[in-house]
Amino acid sequence: MATPIIAPFPATRLRRLRRTPALRDMVTEVNFTAGNLIWPIFVTEVAGAEGEIPSMPGVERLTLDGAKRAAERAASLGIPAICIFPHSDPDLKNDTCERAWDPMNIGNQAIRAIKEVAPELAVMTDIALDPYNINGHDGFVVDGVILNDETVEALVKMALAQAEAGADILGPSDMMDGRIGAIREALEAAGHKDVAILSYAAKFASAFYGPFRDAVGASGRLIGDKKTYQVNPANREEALRCVARDLAEGADMVMVKPGMPYLDICREVKDQFGVPTFAYQVSGEYAMIEGAIRNGWLSRDAMAESLLAFRRAGCDGVLSYFAPQMAELLA
Ligand code: PBG
Repeated sequence: MATPIIAPFPATRLRRLRRTPALRDMVTEVNFTAGNLIWPIFVTEVAGAEGEIPSMPGVERLTLDGAKRAAERAASLGIPAICIFPHSDPDLKNDTCERAWDPMNIGNQAIRAIKEVAPELAVMTDIALDPYNINGHDGFVVDGVILNDETVEALVKMALAQAEAGADILGPSDMMDGRIGAIREALEAAGHKDVAILSYAAKFASAFYGPFRDAVGASGRLIGDKKTYQVNPANREEALRCVARDLAEGADMVMVKPGMPYLDICREVKDQFGVPTFAYQVSGEYAMIEGAIRNGWLSRDAMAESLLAFRRAGCDGVLSYFAPQMAELLA
């Protein structure tokens, strides 16, 4: 017979420590502060594309000026980092993706603009070709095949342009093999030795990215799916191998993405590797919670609870579209 973990009633009454707010405070195991947040924002270069994203109520595509205001807001709320996602001109998307490493692309302009108004705020980027690719993929596509090594060369150029523009943290989200090592080596060689890498290490091929693809204008564009590079949602061991690989190649921090359906992976990454671990509460998770709140089906408390769960699962921080709302609640 298994040994009971706790003495039986009445020696143990677990409700004793839940009786008052003071007692509950004393035995609270994890907390959530504004310092645990990274705020993802969408910045557009297309006149008229700014404004609310229908599948992400409450989230807007921003102009460069809007991005500056968001940065100031983040800084004043104690959010340590903002992550930039470009919404690029659809007429300039092509299959060679040169704009991905153009120093003047909208993502790189946003880095500089934010650094002007909020120099202390950490600026994170996204490294992948999809905002600039005609077919919506994160890598080059030839005859329906995603080319790994050719894509890595392009990602390195993208990383250098972002570092040059002043980014503090680079976020390769493409899931090509070997990109972390290649980017790290190129950053060192170019003198960007203090630019950090937060790798999207355990990134699953998820249906929860739908609203994001609306936000960056990739919906309807994607030919096929991303299953040849993103991890099968059934695979825990493979996700852990991705994390081990990215750390070995020089990632400073790692991410699990999506978040809520993958809390088991968050916990395991933290326990196995003991490195700075982040989760991305992605667009579809935001849409579910915010949509249900707006419909009156959930109370607003669902937001804070969803974020606290990441801390309990071992995460140091969370990328979340709720960042400004959550930080305001905490202020
Ligand atoms: C693409 C990228 C995606 C997200 C971040 N970077 C989408 C994808 O892989 O198709 C999704 C983020 C979200 O859903 O909020 N490089």
